[in-house]
Amino acid sequence: PKKITSICCIGAGYVGGPTMAVMAQKNPDIKVTVVDLNKQRIADWNDSDLSKLPIFEPGLDQVVAEARGRNLFFSTNVDDAIREADMIFISVNTPTKTYGSGKGMAADLKYIELCARQIAQIATTDKIVVEKSTLPVKTAQAIKSILDHTGNGVKFQILSNPEFLAEGTAMTDLANPDRVLIGGEQTEEGLKAIQSLVDVYATWIPKAQILTTNIWSSELSKLVANAFLAQRVSSINAISELCEASGANVEEVAKAIGMDSRIGPKFLKASVGFGGSCFQKDILNLVYISKSLGLTEVADYWEQVIIMNNHQRDRFANNIVSTLYNTVSGKKIAFLGWAFKKDTNDTRESAAIYVADKLIDEQAQISVYDPKVTAVQMQADLNYLNTRSEAENENFVKTETDAYKALEGAHAIAVLTEWDEFKTYNWQRIYESMSKPAFVFDGRNVLDKTALEAIGFRVKAIGK
Ligand code: NAI
Repeated sequence: PKKITSICCIGAGYVGGPTMAVMAQKNPDIKVTVVDLNKQRIADWNDSDLSKLPIFEPGLDQVVAEARGRNLFFSTNVDDAIREADMIFISVNTPTKTYGSGKGMAADLKYIELCARQIAQIATTDKIVVEKSTLPVKTAQAIKSILDHTGNGVKFQILSNPEFLAEGTAMTDLANPDRVLIGGEQTEEGLKAIQSLVDVYATWIPKAQILTTNIWSSELSKLVANAFLAQRVSSINAISELCEASGANVEEVAKAIGMDSRIGPKFLKASVGFGGSCFQKDILNLVYISKSLGLTEVADYWEQVIIMNNHQRDRFANNIVSTLYNTVSGKKIAFLGWAFKKDTNDTRESAAIYVADKLIDEQAQISVYDPKVTAVQMQADLNYLNTRSEAENENFVKTETDAYKALEGAHAIAVLTEWDEFKTYNWQRIYESMSKPAFVFDGRNVLDKTALEAIGFRVKAIGK
C-alpha cells in the first residue's frame, strides 16, 4: 500500500476540524490541510487567539496549538490542497433536502457532488478519496462514476470512513474511539487503499479496533448507529410520559433496566428530546432509503423514533403553558441553555429552538442564557424555521450573557441544555428574584428537584 504523506480534507466543520487536528497530531510526518469555501471559518481556525476557533470542543485548542503550522494547515485554497494530496477526505455537510424529490427526508448530496467534480477536474495524480461525511448507501458509486470519467488517466479509489465522534466529547472520542470503520472495494486496488488508511489510524489506534468492511456496509453502519442511538432516547422518552402518568420515576426505571447487561446503562437519559445535526437527518435518510426500496414496515418503524422526539418537545412546551394557568402571553420564560447538548456551541436541531418557537406562538417573552451560544446564532436558528418575521423573533427572544439577569423576574425557568454550571448556581438568590409562584421545568433532569422544592420552587422534571 501507498504510504500517505499528504492529506487534504474538504470541509472545516464540526467533523473536519477536530478529526484532522487529531490525525495531524498523531502523524507528525503527514501534512494535513483542511480547506473550506467559508473564508471566515478558515480565518477563525487560523486565529492566533485559540478562544476564537470556530468550534468549541473541550481540548481542541491544545491539539490545534500543538499541530497547527507544523503539519496542520487551514486554507481556502481548495484546488492546491487537492492537487498536493494523496488522500482526500470529504467532510462537507449533507443536510436533509429542502426541495424537490425526497424533500424533508433524503440527504442533499449537492455539496458532495461538487467536491467530486472539483477533485475530478483538478487531480493530476492518483488519489484515494475518503467519504467522511455521513452518506446514503451507494453514494460511493455516484462519486466513483464522476471521478472515473475525467479521461486523463488519473486513478481513484473510494473509501468510506464514517465518523462516530460525539460533539462535546469529540477530542477524547477521536483519541480513543470505540472503533474506526473503513469500507472499500474488495479488489486488489481497493484493499491496498484500505490498508493505506488503516496505517494512518494505526499510529494511535490498536489494530483490533480498526474494522474493515465492504463499502456499502460501512456507509450503512453509520446511519444504523445513529438510528439505534436515537431510538434509545425516544424509547426512554416514551417511557418518561408513562412515568409521569403513572407515578413511576423514569430515572429509577432507567437504572433498573440499564443494569441488565443486555440493555446496558448508557443513553437512557430521559430529556426534552434529542437534537444535533445528525440523529434526525440520518434517520430520515434511513427511512427514505427504506421507502425507496419498497420496505414500508422498516421505514415506518424507524420514522416512529422521530415522531416520538417531536412529541417530546411539543409536550415539554405544552406543559409549560398549561402549568402557567394556560397562558404565557407577556410572561417572561427564561431558558437555561440553547446548544443541543452541553460542551458544544452547536445548536443545530436543538430542542430549545422548537420549544422557543412554540412559546413565541403563545406570545411568551423568552430570555436565554447559554454559556457558548451567541445571540446572533439564536436568532438565525429561529429565523431558519420561517415561522414569523425576523423582527418578531427579535422582539420575543432576548439573549443575556449573565445567567442571573436572564432569570430575573421570570415566571418560569426552562432548562434546555445540561450544562454543568447550572447545578452550581445560587438557587436561593434566583428564587428571590423571580415572579411567584416560581416554576422550573427541568428538560434535562439536571437540577436537584428536592433541594429546589425546599427553597419554594415548583419543579416539573421529565418522567417524574
Ligand atoms: P459543518 O456544516 O460543520 O461543516 C461542513 C463544512 O463544509 C462547512 O464549513 C462548509 O462551508 C464546507 N463545505 C461545503 N461544501 C464545500 C465545498 N464544496 N468545498 C469546500 N468546503 C465546503 O458539518 P459537520 O457537522 O462537520 O458535518 C459534516 C459531515 O459529517 C456530515 O455529513 C455529517 O452528517 C457528518 N457527521 C457529523 C457529526 C457531528 O457530530 N457534527 C458526527 C459524525 C458525522
